[in-house]
Formats: sequence, C-alpha cells, structure tokens
Amino acid sequence: MAVEVGLPERGQDCLTWREVRSLGERMRKGDREHFDRWAPRYDRSLAQPLFFGPVYKNALRLAASLAPAPLRVLDVGCGTGRLLRLTGQQLPAAELVGVDGSPEMIRMAQRATRDSATVRFIQGLAESLPFRDGAFDLVFSTISFHHWADQTRGLSEVSRVLAPGGVLLLADNFVIPSHRVFFLGKERRARFHTKREVEAMLSKAGLRCFAWHDLHRFGPLRMVIGVSAYKLPS
Ligand SMILES: C[S@@+](CC[C@H](N)C(=O)[O-])C[C@H]1O[C@@H](n2cnc3c(N)ncnc32)[C@H](O)[C@@H]1O
Repeated sequence: MAVEVGLPERGQDCLTWREVRSLGERMRKGDREHFDRWAPRYDRSLAQPLFFGPVYKNALRLAASLAPAPLRVLDVGCGTGRLLRLTGQQLPAAELVGVDGSPEMIRMAQRATRDSATVRFIQGLAESLPFRDGAFDLVFSTISFHHWADQTRGLSEVSRVLAPGGVLLLADNFVIPSHRVFFLGKERRARFHTKREVEAMLSKAGLRCFAWHDLHRFGPLRMVIGVSAYKLPS
C-alpha cells in the first residue's frame, strides 16, 4: 500500500519534532490547539449526530454516484477518521488514507482503526500533501476547508494528488454568508466565499466544478454545502 499512493512507510506516520513544529507554524496555532483538545471527545460529541453525521451520510451517498468504484480515497482534514471508517464499510476493497494537521486527531483515528489493513492516517497539511501526483481517484474534505491557512495552495495540492478524471467532494459552510457572523476575525472571514469565487479557485487549481449540493439542513437553515469537481486531464 505504501508504494501505491506514495505514502511514508508504516511507523513514519508521526512526524519528527522539527516537522511537527514547521507544520504547526503553517496551520493556525489556535486551530491546532483547539482540535488537539477536542480530539479525545470528538466522536462522542453531540455535534456528531446533529451535524457531522448527516454530512458524512450525504457525502457518501453523493460519492457513490459521482465516483462509483474508487480504488484509492483520501480525506483531507479527516479529524478522527469517521468518514473514512464509513467509507470502508461501503468500499471494503479501497485503499483509504486520511490526513490531518492535528496530531491528536490522527492519534484518535489510528487508535480506532488499529486492526485495519486498508486505512491509514497520517499527520500532514492540505497545503503540502505527502503523496505522489495522481495517487487518488476520490478526495473528500468535510468541514475543514475554512480552516486551511492557504486555501489556494490546498486546492492545488488536492488537484495534484487526484488522478485525471478523479473526483473532489468539498463540503463546508464556506459559501453560506450568514455563517460569517460566527467567525469574527478578518482573517477568518476571508476564508468564506461566494460560489463563484470557489469555482474560480477550483478552476485555477485545474479542477472543473461539477455541481453544488445541499449536504445538511436544519429545517430552512442551510448548514453545509458541498461542491463536487473533477480533475481535468492535463
Ligand atoms: C471540524 S474538523 C472536521 C473533521 C472531519 N473532516 C469531520 O468531518 O469530522 C476540521 C479538521 O480540519 C483539520 N485541519 C484544519 N486545517 C487543516 C489543514 N490546513 N490541513 C489539514 N487538516 C486541517 C483540523 O485539525 C480538524 O481535524
């Protein structure tokens, strides 16, 4: 498996102190600390059934129609790996890889999948994915994009590791203007966009927007929107 997607060898999933430090400097420090603290309780949190669970369910349903039999699947900003664990039930033969900037999230994900031969979790950032070009047929990212310090670079990395024709499913609240009120800092707000802006960012990265999807609603309130895109042949 390590050879197939260009992963580091097993046992190198945790980075050296120097590597962690340089990653930490690029991921917002506050974000990393927040997610490290949340990691041990993440899977038991009320947000799972109310918020994340429906997103995973709808993302998987959508992925099954957009990329019916992917062999290699990546989840960027995978958290504790719940989406990939569900993906494994749906695609038992697929090679599944999760990457996340928070070492504690990765530790929880690894602990929950200790006995699995088909899923791996690696600490790393969207902005510098540790995989070879064209390694994946399907890339997920759920509720992570608005945290990425450099979204343009992250999308270009996602595009690089997607095989031509491969599918990205990016789900977040990034295009819901009312959600901006929850994010006070100017720098944070700058990571929220209009649909048109996201389409332009995808296009710049070599990804063609396929469609927009409502991934989670609370009655009339839109909570999470997804965009699907595919990698254009070079
Ligand atoms: C709200 S959690 C969502 C986790 C998971 N995708 C889910 O849906 O349950 C956001 C995750 O994005 C990760 N993250 C934030 N910025 C990142 C980056 N630049 N690269 C990789 N992971 C990042 C955080 O560490 C955190 O685990």
